[in-house]
Amino acid sequence: MTPTPAGALLTATDLHKAYGPTPALDGASFSVHPGEVVAVMGPSGSGKSTLLHCLAGIVTPDSGSITYDGRELTTLSDAERSALRRTDFGFVFQFGQLVPELTCVENVALPLRLNGTKRKEAERQAASWLARLEVDDLAAKRPGEISGGQGQRVAVARSLVTNPRLLFADEPTGALDSLNGERVMELLTEAARGANAAVVLVTHEARVAAYSDREIVVRDGKSRDMEFAR
Ligand SMILES: Nc1ncnc2c1ncn2[C@@H]1O[C@H](COP(=O)(O)OP(=O)(O)OP(=O)(O)O)[C@@H](O)[C@H]1O
Ligand SMILES: [Mg+2]
Repeated sequence: MTPTPAGALLTATDLHKAYGPTPALDGASFSVHPGEVVAVMGPSGSGKSTLLHCLAGIVTPDSGSITYDGRELTTLSDAERSALRRTDFGFVFQFGQLVPELTCVENVALPLRLNGTKRKEAERQAASWLARLEVDDLAAKRPGEISGGQGQRVAVARSLVTNPRLLFADEPTGALDSLNGERVMELLTEAARGANAAVVLVTHEARVAAYSDREIVVRDGKSRDMEFAR
C-alpha cells in the first residue's frame, strides 16, 4: 500500500470503478495538500469526472481507499458523507448548477441555509462573496437574467460561502469564452487561496491548468503526476 503523503488533506489510493463492462478508473491514485490547487488533465473519457466524483464522495469506487482528514470516506454512511460534503467541500460544475427560481444572492446563501444559518446572516455572507467575485450588482437577479460567465462567478461564490477546506471544480470554465474563462479562473484561485481552501480542478485546457500549483494527467483510468513545480 502507498503510504499517505505527509500532511495531505485528501489521499486516494488505487481506485477502481467500472460502469458495467467499461472501466472508468483503473488504479488511480491522488493526493492534495491543504491550500494546494491541483489541475486534473487528460483526454475525454479518461476518467477525470469519475475520479473527482469519487474524491468528493458522490460516487463510491468499487475498490481502493480515500482518506480525508484521517477518515476513510468509502466506509462512511451516506448520511455521514453528505454531511461532510455540506460542511467541508465546495463544488463548481460546468453549467446549470444555479437554482433558476432563486435570485443570485439566494443561490449563494443556499448552502448556509441548508446548514442551518438564519436567512439574514446567510444573505449577508452571500452578498460579501458576490462582491469578492465582482458580481454584487447581480444579487437580485435570477440565473435566467445573467450571462454564462456571470453565472459561473455566482456559482464560485456559492461554492466558497461555507468556507470549504476543499473545492472541487469540473470544467468550471468549459462553457465560457477564453476571456471570461480566464477571469473566472483568476477569481476562483484568488478566492480559494485567500480562504486557504484546496482546489481540485478538472480541465481540458492548458491555460486553465496554468493557474494550478501541480498537474496530474489521467489516461485510461490511471493517474500520473506531472511532477513539476511552477
Ligand atoms: N454514469 C455512467 N454510466 C456509464 N458509463 C459511464 C458513466 N460515467 C462515466 N462513464 C464512462 O466512464 C469512462 C470515464 O468517464 P468520465 O466521465 O470520468 O471521463 P472524463 O475524463 O470526465 O471525460 P470528459 O473529459 O469528456 O468529461 C467513460 O468511458 C465513460 O463513458
Ligand atoms: Mg468529465
